[in-house]
Amino acid sequence: MSHVALEAEVAAKAEHPRSGCAHDFEQVFHVLPHAEAHAPGRVNLLGEHTDYNDGFVLPVAIPQQTRVAMARNGGSTFRLHAAELGSAVEFSFEDPPTEHFASYVFGCLRLVHEEGVDIPGLDIHVASDVPMGVGLSSSAALEVATLRCLRELLGLQLDDVRIAQLAQQAEIQDAGVRCGIMDQMASSLAATDRALLLDTRSLERRMVPLPEGSAVLVLDSGVARSLATSGYNQRRAECEEAARLLGVESLRDVDHLEYIENLPELPRKRARHVFTENRRVLQAVDCRDPKAFGELMNASHASLRDDYEVSTPELDLLVDLLQRQPGVLGARLTGAGFGGACVALCKREAVQQVARTVLAQYREAGHQGRLLVPATD
Ligand code: GLA
Repeated sequence: MSHVALEAEVAAKAEHPRSGCAHDFEQVFHVLPHAEAHAPGRVNLLGEHTDYNDGFVLPVAIPQQTRVAMARNGGSTFRLHAAELGSAVEFSFEDPPTEHFASYVFGCLRLVHEEGVDIPGLDIHVASDVPMGVGLSSSAALEVATLRCLRELLGLQLDDVRIAQLAQQAEIQDAGVRCGIMDQMASSLAATDRALLLDTRSLERRMVPLPEGSAVLVLDSGVARSLATSGYNQRRAECEEAARLLGVESLRDVDHLEYIENLPELPRKRARHVFTENRRVLQAVDCRDPKAFGELMNASHASLRDDYEVSTPELDLLVDLLQRQPGVLGARLTGAGFGGACVALCKREAVQQVARTVLAQYREAGHQGRLLVPATD
C-alpha cells in the first residue's frame, strides 16, 4: 500500500473507527446494513455498589466498543449474528431466544416494541472488543449499541438518558441482574478522557477532568466472576434490608455514620461501605491532588474487601501489587467484584511499565492476568 493510501486509511479509521462492521454484516447477510451504531464499555474509578442505593458514581468510558449493524429483512423475525453465538440465532417476540447473549438484544427490541413502536423483522450483526465477564460492562455496551442502532434505523425520539434507562430495564428484566443504572449511563454518556460524575438518584451529571498527569490502567485478574449474579443480587437485598431497618428510602439517605452504629453487624458493614463510598466519590471530584484521589481509590478497595465482601484473594493480591508501584496513585477492584478486573490510576508516563511489572509479579505468584486498558491494538 502506498504511503498516501495508508495515510488515507488511517485517517478514515480515525474518523469511522468501526467501519469494519458494515463489511462483517455484508459477509454474513449478503446485503449492506441500513443502520450502524456503537457504544463503549466502562471502567468505574470510584462509587462501587452505590448506584442501586441512589448514590454517586464516577465511571469513564474505555476505548473498546461494541458495534451493532441492522437491516430490515422483509420478514417478521429477528436473525442475530455474533461471534459469541457461533451461528446465527433466530427469534421473535412470541418465541424469545434461549441464549443468554441474545437475551440482551431481545430485551432492547422488546422494550422499544412495548413503547408502541412497530419493529419490523431485522437482521442484526454484533461485533465487540469489550472484554466480557470482567466488570467492564460488555452487556451495557451491547444494550446501548443495540438501542442506538434501532434509534438510527427507525428514527426514534430517544435521548441518551432514555436509552440508558431502557438498557437498564433490558438487563434487569431479560438478563436477570437487578443492576443499578451506572453501566448503561456510562456507556451512553461517558467519555474516555474525562470521568462522568453521576448522581444516580436525580441522574444529574457532569464531566470532571481526570487528575492532572494521570492515566487509567485496567488489569484482568483472570478470575471468572462465578458468583457475580447471585452475590450481586444478594448484596442489593442486604442494602435494602439495612435501609428498611434504618427507616430510610435508600442508603443514600444516611447522613451520618453514627446512624448505622446500632445495626446488626452485616447490614452495618454494607451500609458503612455505601456511606463511605459515596463520600469518597464526592471528595474525589473536589480534590485537585492526584495522590489524594489515588488514596480514595485505595480506601475504596479496603471497604469493598472488608465491609462489602466482594473481593477475592486474587483481586486483593493484584491490587496490592499495583498499590506498591511508585507509578501508581491508587488501585482497587472495579465493577461488581467476585473476580474480574482491577483499575489503577497511574502517573501517565508509568502506565506501561506498571502493567509489565505487576503482571510479571502476578505470574510469579501463579496467576495469569492480562492488560485490558490501555488497549493494546
Ligand atoms: C455492576 C452493575 C452496576 C453497579 C456495579 C457495582 O456493574 O451493573 O449497576 O451496581 O456492578 O458498582
